[in-house]
Amino acid sequence: MATNRTFTMIKPDAVKNNYIGAILDKINGAGFKIKAMKYTKLTEEAAGEFYAVHKERPFYGELVEFMSSGPIVAAILEKDNAVDDFRTLIGATNPAESAEGTIRKLYAESIGANAVHGSDSDENANIEGSFFFSNLERF
Ligand code: RTP
Ligand code: MG
Repeated sequence: MATNRTFTMIKPDAVKNNYIGAILDKINGAGFKIKAMKYTKLTEEAAGEFYAVHKERPFYGELVEFMSSGPIVAAILEKDNAVDDFRTLIGATNPAESAEGTIRKLYAESIGANAVHGSDSDENANIEGSFFFSNLERF
């Protein structure tokens, strides 16, 4: 069943580049409501677990190192059709291929340091939200 929720992270590059405010503004401006949020930093172990689905990919080591390199903002977002609409808002994985006006086009550095994460399915949105937030931390 569609839950109308998705999960996002503002990644270490965008935090370092002072884009937290601009990205949250784009997210709210696109009609997403914030249901949970925290500023935190992943350990290498936690980043490895979060991205375990990519374990066999050649970029896995780099991804884990990058995602644990500095603080991030994790959030659960709500909107009709949240997963798909959020993927549209953030743009293609590689900012060189992202559509104009998307978060990655505006704020990403590279295919690896690409400013934001967005869940790819309702099931993963739920799993990823629960990775970061207890039931006392989401509203
Ligand atoms: P995300 O999961 O972070 O929202 O990104 P995505 O769905 O657009 O891309 P995915 O295929 O799930 O890849 C996860 C993250 O791994 C890094 N990546 N690096 N160097 C590379 O070729 C490469 N490919 C992917 C990116 O940070 C990507 O967001
Ligand atoms: Mg993905």
